[in-house]
Amino acid sequence: MARRALITGITGQDGSYLAEHLLSEGYEVWGLVRGQANPRVSRVRRLLQDVQLVRGDLLDQGSLISAVEKVQPDEVYNLGAISFVPMSWEQAELTAEVTGMGVLRMLEAIRVCSGITAARGAGSGQIRFYQASSSEMFGQVRETPQNERTPFHPRSPYGVAKTYGHFLTQNYRESYGMFAVSGILFNHESPRRGAEFVTRKVSLGVARIKLGLATELRLGNLEARRDWGFAGDYARAMRLMLQAAEPEDYVIGTGRTQSVRELVEAAFGAAGLDWERYVVCDQSLHRPAEVDLLCADPKKARTQLGWEPTVSFEELVAMMVESDLTLLAGGGDPHQDSSWP
Ligand code: NAP
Ligand code: GDD
Repeated sequence: MARRALITGITGQDGSYLAEHLLSEGYEVWGLVRGQANPRVSRVRRLLQDVQLVRGDLLDQGSLISAVEKVQPDEVYNLGAISFVPMSWEQAELTAEVTGMGVLRMLEAIRVCSGITAARGAGSGQIRFYQASSSEMFGQVRETPQNERTPFHPRSPYGVAKTYGHFLTQNYRESYGMFAVSGILFNHESPRRGAEFVTRKVSLGVARIKLGLATELRLGNLEARRDWGFAGDYARAMRLMLQAAEPEDYVIGTGRTQSVRELVEAAFGAAGLDWERYVVCDQSLHRPAEVDLLCADPKKARTQLGWEPTVSFEELVAMMVESDLTLLAGGGDPHQDSSWP
């Protein structure tokens, strides 16, 4: 019988790639969607016709229990979150509730529906749980590159909420014997990335300038460094973690790091433009506390899961610029659901 997966965050970038991947592996895929008439659901309906939808919200414990009861999943992937770091300063409490407490509610839904107690434990045939942890937890990094043993020092309310979810996942594994794991994923991008994140903001900015739709691109801190990979590669890693013999946490990244300045140079270069003529540094886009440098050490994932990234930084940037040039040249609107390639 096909394995059944429940994905929270199905309307997001990662939810779409994970759903595609699980469908290609023969899974029956269910996506949790929130809201009375969530406009982003049309994306899922258009792109992922074989995904079945169930209503629920990470803010609502009862809805998660109902969803788990209805779907009876073998695997749960908790990707739902407020994921944009600057928003976590503006709405810190909501971020804590969704990105942090949402993990507790999802784990509790699984525990309650499976009849797991500390005395009885999880046993075999249990629901496997994946938590979308983040390299933002490393924050002000204590060592470079960062691996599974690097201490955390989060620098944003988002990073703090993710750190809570991370330790809680570990705690449910230790307390109840649950197969609960965290993927500590470094930044991953794609043509489906939200327009607010820097890679997509840059690829859209380049496309607008190239097509004569804009004359400048305003950015914040150009010196921050990130380990950027392709989202499709990272979705494969999520599934692999839940197929492992033992529940363990893994760092997922490329092992290379680039500055925002290098990203900008590569993206404008891909369109034959000189970035220095168009980029305007805007102090108001700097963050109250910055994560200066992220660089993964993905050795454990490579040796234990056989996971490797397949798309280089240069290929990723070129893919995103090309996709946005095609989108905007065809009159597409990046904020419309129909824009997803
Ligand atoms: P994304 O595109 O921002 O998607 C976030 C998803 O969370 C959306 O589907 C959103 O659904 C859902 N969501 C928000 N509030 C919710 C709630 N109250 N209940 C249920 N769902 C809710 O994020 P992403 O890039 O795909 O990232 C997926 C996960 O990985 C996130 O947890 C993120 O923090 C984490 N992560 C991402 C990266 C990265 O580089 N992309 C790296 C490390 C970790 P709506 O349509 O209802 O808003
Ligand atoms: N968004 C944005 N917009 N970022 C900018 C800008 C700008 O105009 N200018 C410079 N940056 C810098 C930010 O200061 C940050 O250092 C870097 O670009 C990356 O910003 P984002 O693309 O917004 O991503 P992030 O690193 O803060 O967070 C993403 O990756 C995390 C994993 O490390 C998100 O996907 C998180 O959800 C994820 O956990």
